[in-house]
Amino acid sequence: MAGITIQGFRSIFRTFGAPSGSVWKWAQSFASFLLIALVLPALCSPLAAQTVTDTQAETGLAEAHPQGWWPNEGAAARNAYTGPRACAPCHPSEFNGWRNSQMAHAIVPAVESPFLRAHPHMSYQRGPYTYRIDLIGGKAVYSVTDGQNTLSIALLWAYGTGVVGQAYVFRANGVYNEAEVAFYPVLGRLDIVAGLVRALPPTLQGAFGLPLIPAAAQQCISCHTTAAVAGGRLDVQTLIRGVTCEACHGPGARHVAAMEKASRPIKSAANTIFDPVRLDPADLENFCAACHRSSLLVEREGLHGLDTVHYEPYRLEMSQCWIMSQRLTCITCHNPHQPLQQNPVGYDSACLSCHSARPSSAVALSAAKACPVAARNCVTCHMPECRLPLSPFSLSDHFIRIVSAGDPCAKS
Ligand code: HEC
Ligand code: HEC
Ligand code: HEC
Ligand code: HEC
Ligand code: HEC
Ligand code: HEC
Ligand code: HEC
Repeated sequence: MAGITIQGFRSIFRTFGAPSGSVWKWAQSFASFLLIALVLPALCSPLAAQTVTDTQAETGLAEAHPQGWWPNEGAAARNAYTGPRACAPCHPSEFNGWRNSQMAHAIVPAVESPFLRAHPHMSYQRGPYTYRIDLIGGKAVYSVTDGQNTLSIALLWAYGTGVVGQAYVFRANGVYNEAEVAFYPVLGRLDIVAGLVRALPPTLQGAFGLPLIPAAAQQCISCHTTAAVAGGRLDVQTLIRGVTCEACHGPGARHVAAMEKASRPIKSAANTIFDPVRLDPADLENFCAACHRSSLLVEREGLHGLDTVHYEPYRLEMSQCWIMSQRLTCITCHNPHQPLQQNPVGYDSACLSCHSARPSSAVALSAAKACPVAARNCVTCHMPECRLPLSPFSLSDHFIRIVSAGDPCAKS
């Protein structure tokens, strides 16, 4: 893999968009890489000498935030975590809803991917290169051939439940790589990873995978799992798959022990476990943005226009609803203990809690207007589906607005 340079690489699943010609940008990402390297010396083994010069690692600088638990920091010790099953007996409704959510399955071993099981032999042609993923002998074998030579390897992880797509990661010569092809449910097949320019790679090696610098590989696994980084150290052997209870509520061993010991019903568990509901709206937004990416990060990466549609916190914060209400957050519309609501009507009550002739008392202060056009299905007009550049799919835009005729997401 040594010596590969990916010019102008842009993946929506990663980061992003810096023309690699930009010395400043490179210096910035190198600086953040160094920072992570300092914090996590264990990771910086020989891989740091890799000559990949793209900008795949996200700026690892945490935003200022309140004390208590914060996602993705990785400071807590691994034995402070219990795993989600330990929470089920006492919190059955949260557990049963959550376990059907996409976040619960944000990563699975590639052989367990429902898409690969449904399509055990898939291929995709790109110029002279034939890509395949085959489930054979208990492995998900990924291969690329140019007709003369073939590279092939077993995939490790499948990322994503396929709200938009599922990506695959493998490890070769000590370096994590993302496979060049991902599965897209809208297409029902493999296609080039979203965000990649479709120019043909000059070599078979270049067509095979996208090498991830160690910091990027770590961030990638950290956001899609729980406790992959514990005590400041990445350990893929002991990670808990998916975004579990403890990714948001912090390590739970102390709480479980205290609740099991309690002889009489407990009224407040506040001092044994973190509840994000106590954060003020701006901090709660940044809390989810620790994985969903904050506005600060998007701005720092220099992303604009439709390239930002994927970053819900940034888009939401462009809305008058966010700016004028001071209280709209992700959990106004999403319950993290439930699967994603895909019926537009399901969001009406959230909109109407502010935008009705008689808003409910809790939000009456926001004094939001009612719609002169329609009384239901609000999101179909005001959160339009936008097509991401260099991708086969569209997403509901979290920039809530009146869509004018010239809007890039206006229905034609
Ligand atoms: C032995 C039973 C028990 C287990 C196991 C348990 N809890 Fe609790 N939990 C309680 C009780 C009792 C309360 C307090 C009453 C309530 O809020 O339901 C509570 C409260 C909470 C709260 C609200 C805290 C607050 O003060 O706002 C959260 C969040 C929570 N638990 C998360 C978890 C998570 C995550 C796990 C698994 C790591 C877990 N619990 C395991 C019994 C338990
Ligand atoms: C530890 C990282 C992490 C944190 C913290 C996090 N998310 Fe997520 N979230 C993810 C990942 C990864 C996915 C993609 C899951 C998939 O489709 O594979 C996701 C998906 C989602 C989805 C779409 C599908 C689903 O699972 O329902 C919603 C909605 C969502 N997150 C809301 C939230 C909210 C609200 C918060 C804050 C309370 C939050 N997330 C915090 C990582 C995180
Ligand atoms: C900063 C945290 C973060 C990092 C780093 C990260 N992801 Fe994600 N990823 C998310 C969140 C949050 C979502 C879901 C929300 C969204 O679509 O933005 C997501 C969504 C995805 C999806 C689409 C899931 C679906 O159901 O459609 C894929 C595939 C994916 N990520 C793969 C990766 C891979 C591969 C890497 C590393 C090369 C990576 N991600 C790095 C947080 C992260
Ligand atoms: C993506 C982040 C996220 C995940 C994952 C998550 N929670 Fe929560 N949880 C929250 C937020 C935000 C709140 C506060 C808002 C609310 O009540 O929905 C909360 C509230 C709670 C409460 C307090 C409920 C109440 O009525 O006061 C409990 C108990 C709880 N969660 C347990 C769990 C358990 C158990 C799991 C895993 C099965 C889990 N949570 C997974 C974010 C999360
Ligand atoms: C927490 C309260 C709150 C929620 C929830 C909320 N909004 Fe708003 N919204 C506001 C406020 C305040 C304004 C600014 C005053 C106004 O135009 O009514 C606003 C403005 C708007 C505007 C006008 C935007 C512009 O640029 O003129 C639209 C359209 C809108 N909201 C639609 C929605 C939709 C659709 C939903 C649900 C998906 C929603 N809002 C949820 C508070 C909210
Ligand atoms: C005003 C309501 C509203 C708010 C607030 C909101 N969402 Fe959404 N979200 C939606 C709707 C509507 C969809 C589209 C659901 C579908 O697929 O049909 C959605 C979809 C998603 C998805 C699935 C992938 C995508 O982007 O379409 C993720 C992830 C997500 N939201 C995360 C978040 C996060 C993180 C926040 C806080 C920054 C947030 N949402 C705030 C209404 C909202
Ligand atoms: C069929 C598309 C459509 C649907 C569905 C829809 N709207 Fe609208 N909405 C519009 C249009 C178009 C305008 C601009 C009207 C104008 O400027 O005369 C608008 C205007 C608004 C405004 C600004 C009002 C003002 O006086 O500035 C708000 C707030 C709003 N809608 C909220 C909602 C809510 C909440 C819902 C769901 C109950 C909803 N809309 C459903 C198309 C729609």
